[in-house]
Amino acid sequence: MQAKHKVIFDTDPGVDDAMALYFAMAHPEIDVIAVTTTFGNVTVQQATTNALYLTRIAGSDIPVAQGAAVPMNKTPGQPPAFIHGADGLGNLPSRVDAGGQAQELSAAEYIVKMARAYPGEITLVAVAPLGNLGLALRLEPNLPKLLKKVVLMGGTVLEPGNVSPVAEANIWNDPDSADLVFTAGWDLAIVGLDVTHRVWMTSAYFKDLAAKKKHLALDTLSHAVNFYCDFYSSIRPELGHACFCHDVLAFVYLVKPELFKTKTGRVRVATEGIGNGQTMMDRHGGIPYPQAGWEATRPQTVVCMEVDTAATLKLIDDTLSGDWLKPSLTA
Ligand code: BDR
Ligand code: CA
Repeated sequence: MQAKHKVIFDTDPGVDDAMALYFAMAHPEIDVIAVTTTFGNVTVQQATTNALYLTRIAGSDIPVAQGAAVPMNKTPGQPPAFIHGADGLGNLPSRVDAGGQAQELSAAEYIVKMARAYPGEITLVAVAPLGNLGLALRLEPNLPKLLKKVVLMGGTVLEPGNVSPVAEANIWNDPDSADLVFTAGWDLAIVGLDVTHRVWMTSAYFKDLAAKKKHLALDTLSHAVNFYCDFYSSIRPELGHACFCHDVLAFVYLVKPELFKTKTGRVRVATEGIGNGQTMMDRHGGIPYPQAGWEATRPQTVVCMEVDTAATLKLIDDTLSGDWLKPSLTA
């Protein structure tokens, strides 16, 4: 059997972040050794509260480290409460006392500490604005060599953006950190809107799963997904009461890269102006552009361009339906 992927999960939970976290915890080939949090869908404090809550109610004591509260340079905006709820989990009517406390180290410090402790072993899966990775790179410039690889949910190449005609939310929230990440030189893959807009799931699926499993973690997820689907069905009514599974696809790529068609090339991020947050990819390759910033020596990124939707949905279902939850805390 394939050795487990040792993963640090960098996240801003967030409804699809919660789906991704549970997929990762449920998948037999993934070992989530830490969760690091950042602002994005919610404030960083709320993201930490949610990461602790989601892991603890599912019966896990995975370490959680709190990270970036604001973007590296950009003026911070307001979290999108209309998409994820003011609490990031669809405005849960109540929460049990699930316990748990964040680490004393910041997310960036924690990432560096773990990367040094397990050189070449850790995959960083980041599904949020990239401030923690940017800060970690400043603390340890050798980080790209210490991590095994980085998989990001973020950006878009051909698909229209979701916060502007050209920008995806995670990159747009902190474009300066994102451009640092794209030029740092790690083994980097991005799973962006080109593929995440091809995979959606209904609120009815999560409701059925929760009914079958009778577990607080899945009741919580189903509540959150229902709220998220209210938003997506208002802008994409043709999908039904459904939502895109953005962040989950980063883990799907990690365990089954063969479900994706990819292209490799240099990717940069626009950090100013009307195109702020746009991920620009050199799709031709080999052209000696005269423009500074596109030198042939710049690091390359693997970009997911197409996905096998049916196989992805089956993998998500098989994984979440497995026997992975510890006994439930009661509501
Ligand atoms: C990304 O933005 C966030 O709102 C989601 O959690 C996901 O990480 C999708 O653009
Ligand atoms: Ca996210």
